[in-house]
Amino acid sequence: PLPAPFQVPLPVPAVLAPVAKDADADRYEIVQRQTTAEILPGLRTPIWGYQGTFPGPTIESRSGRTAVVRHRNELPVPTVVHLHGGRTPPDSDGYATDLVLPADGTHAAFSHGGHTGMRDPDATVTRGEREYRYPLRQQAATLWYHDHRMDFTGPAVYRGLAGFHIVRDDEEDALPLPRGERELPLMITDRAFAADGSMRYPSVDPSLTTLPGVEEPYVEGVLGDVILVNGAPWPVAEVSAARHRLRVLNASNARRYDLALDPPPPGGGAFTQIGADQGLLAAPRVHGHLPIAPAERYDLVVDFGRYPVGTEVTLVNRLGTGTTARVMRFRVARRGAEDSRVPDRLADVAPLDRAQAAVTRDFSFRGGRVGDRHGWTVNGEPYAPTRIDARPRLGAVEIWRFVADLHHPIHLHLVHFHVLSRGGRAPGPYDAGRKDTVDLRPGEAVEVIARFDGYRGRYMFHCHNAEHEDMGMMANFATV
Ligand code: C2O
Ligand code: CU
Repeated sequence: PLPAPFQVPLPVPAVLAPVAKDADADRYEIVQRQTTAEILPGLRTPIWGYQGTFPGPTIESRSGRTAVVRHRNELPVPTVVHLHGGRTPPDSDGYATDLVLPADGTHAAFSHGGHTGMRDPDATVTRGEREYRYPLRQQAATLWYHDHRMDFTGPAVYRGLAGFHIVRDDEEDALPLPRGERELPLMITDRAFAADGSMRYPSVDPSLTTLPGVEEPYVEGVLGDVILVNGAPWPVAEVSAARHRLRVLNASNARRYDLALDPPPPGGGAFTQIGADQGLLAAPRVHGHLPIAPAERYDLVVDFGRYPVGTEVTLVNRLGTGTTARVMRFRVARRGAEDSRVPDRLADVAPLDRAQAAVTRDFSFRGGRVGDRHGWTVNGEPYAPTRIDARPRLGAVEIWRFVADLHHPIHLHLVHFHVLSRGGRAPGPYDAGRKDTVDLRPGEAVEVIARFDGYRGRYMFHCHNAEHEDMGMMANFATV
């Protein structure tokens, strides 16, 4: 039996303290380990956690200050850590074959050939530990870190390998936005549980070492019937009747949500969007509801002061049915002095212009055969680490045109982009700002424009439906 909703208090992941600070860098240490957590009341769920928690601890950084994170792998499988949304040099970007082998010496001869049977001569494999360096020369934004091992990202993230990494800067700090306990990161995931409390993930190969992918009925993506926010089932947060900033991340493997508030605030306009995946919008946008695909982030302000004290406000999912139709609840518990507002101008976001683009490239994202099984492809090809599909010049502006058979949230490493068009029309209401993940809809073409700035090297781009990604829907570009 599933627990009653809105009983468990909303957990907020602990902020990780640096082990050292020097003039321009903060140093962190994270141990990846197996443990159990009480997710469903009275049951112990085996998880894989950064520092043994799900979500992992939140890292808070200043823009332009390097974060050095040493990860130690005490899990029974190889791992890879990617900072999603980070502008990161290639050797720290968590390339899918840059494995950190388990510290205990298992998988000594681990083959990272995966579904293609192909080895990656450029992979850098370490044993036990790896240090990731993040220069963070980028604007304030809600980033997140998660596992990214070739062929096995889905099951590893599902077991808990995901956490927030928030970047702050002076420009954003100067704004009168809600802060302190009125700023809440919300990591939304769905999970399925067995009767003993363990998570049910339908891997073809439960050892997560040889055969990638999931059982045939799940090839479109693994969905669960329990909605977790920050690792707790349908939690409840007591809030004061004042504005709150919600950093919403959809960290689900495959589920898309359409978020709304029930009851809606008097007069409508539930969410004031202040930021997208990679930082503040130029100006706020008001939404009555908000679709969000895997890996997308929306930075929102909700004014609970518009509700009478005592109101129970449910964050609902208009794409869900039954248990997946609700996400969490806010209880407007008390009056609160209001000291925040949302300014009309938030940030200088200069969108790129079509005329700046030197190159246009086309990518299609479709189902197909991968070996002898159903899988997913980019331009008809399943992922291979050695195939580079685009070589943008460092600093060049390019337009990338995507087309999809089904819903596919497409993510580019290294860069942020702006949506230029959707379905041949102007970008939609949720496409504004600096993004790194864009949700393609069935049959729809989307154009994005990006400056391929930062570092030279090989980077991935892929569908962020984790099952599609593991079953081939990933490719490489190299900045040259
Ligand atoms: Cu969120 Cu390539 O990843
Ligand atoms: Cu996909």
